[in-house]
Amino acid sequence: MTTPPSAPFCFDAVDSLLAQWQWLWQPAPFVETPRWCQQLPALHQALLALDEPEYQRLAADDTACLDWLCQFLPELAQLKPWRSEVSPRHPSLRGFSAGMGARKQGQVSAFVDAVSPQGRRLVEWCAGQGWLLEGLGQRFPERQLEGLEWQPRLCEQGNARLNRAGISALLRTADVLRDPLEFSTDDSLLALHACGHLHQALLHQVSQQPVQDLALSPCCYHLGDRAALSRRGRSARLDATLIDRHLAVQDTGAGHGNRQRRAEKTGQWRLGYDLLRRQLTGEHRYRPTPSWPGPLWQGSFADYCQHCAGHHGLPLPDDIDFNHWLQAGIALHRQVRRLELVRRQFRRPLEWWLVLDLGWHLGEQGYRVEITPFCDRQLTPRNLLIRAERLSDVPARPENGDSLPAPQPA
Ligand SMILES: C[S@@+](CC[C@H](N)C(=O)[O-])C[C@H]1O[C@@H](n2cnc3c(N)ncnc32)[C@H](O)[C@@H]1O
Repeated sequence: MTTPPSAPFCFDAVDSLLAQWQWLWQPAPFVETPRWCQQLPALHQALLALDEPEYQRLAADDTACLDWLCQFLPELAQLKPWRSEVSPRHPSLRGFSAGMGARKQGQVSAFVDAVSPQGRRLVEWCAGQGWLLEGLGQRFPERQLEGLEWQPRLCEQGNARLNRAGISALLRTADVLRDPLEFSTDDSLLALHACGHLHQALLHQVSQQPVQDLALSPCCYHLGDRAALSRRGRSARLDATLIDRHLAVQDTGAGHGNRQRRAEKTGQWRLGYDLLRRQLTGEHRYRPTPSWPGPLWQGSFADYCQHCAGHHGLPLPDDIDFNHWLQAGIALHRQVRRLELVRRQFRRPLEWWLVLDLGWHLGEQGYRVEITPFCDRQLTPRNLLIRAERLSDVPARPENGDSLPAPQPA
């Protein structure tokens, strides 16, 4: 029998909450005006009337925003438990090598404080320069320490740094999606911020080759396979393939002013072009455009529209007043950002849904699982940590038909 993950939130409760409120967090106002705008006219009007300082205040403070929204929809108070998660505060490791930023140091230290790997060999999955490996080396100097990373340059830099720091650890060049890897029940696997397809590959790996234990903080859920991984997730009320995984990671935490400004500009331009396209075609559904490379965003809005129109096979007349459409995009984006305040309240439950699905999957593969935040969200908004320990009385390989399909390289 599968033991449910031990976590502050249970999967069924999160699933029910999200299913109950799906009409509020889908569709995204960027793509379509949600129907709740008609159903809750007082809320809709109050959102549109928010001046910029008040909007900024609510956007920066989820708790204040929820209190504000509850004036119009008191039942949203159900979301309050997500505003009071408890995270450990005082990471204990010190003295990292030069080059590791303060936030990364805090993350690594908090991660190492939160884990107690039992394997003789500790392997960092997708290690980058091996920052986590350095923290593990400080805490567990007697273990065999390895990191897997596909970029040879990062391996070289990391190995040189680890060597200088007197840490006996080795970064190996390996593509975890393609190369054959060997693990055993003497190993512990650890992954700090493994993106969607990389953490899915890790789960695949440990269901094929069980390890003693693993510790994983996932990120970038939108980069992986969209289907639920666990049996529990596949029988949930929510259809995992419809979950907006971008929404679950739309939480930049502290210190990302430039990224936010860039996101604002791209949003305004996308909407400005889309309004122009609608006008020219008479189509009224949002039509996405690809994530264009950086230089296009440094040019003019007119060039941007030409590029998008070319992509859509849409000839643009010569007399277009691009400034008019840019201003229309800015105005629509202003409204969209305000309407977004409502669905942003569901980011954390959505993330918990996705992480609990991973946790349930590990439980179904014979691991005892615990999920908690490992550090304050100011250090990283992706602060959920899955710890899993193999139960000794389960078969080494999963039952037929219950392992993950091997993830495909992105
Ligand atoms: C988000 S970074 C995390 C790095 C590190 N764990 C940290 O927190 O500093 C993901 C890392 O995975 C590596 N990576 C991406 N695809 C990979 C693959 N297929 N095999 C091995 N490493 C991969 C990237 O080069 C990058 O260093």
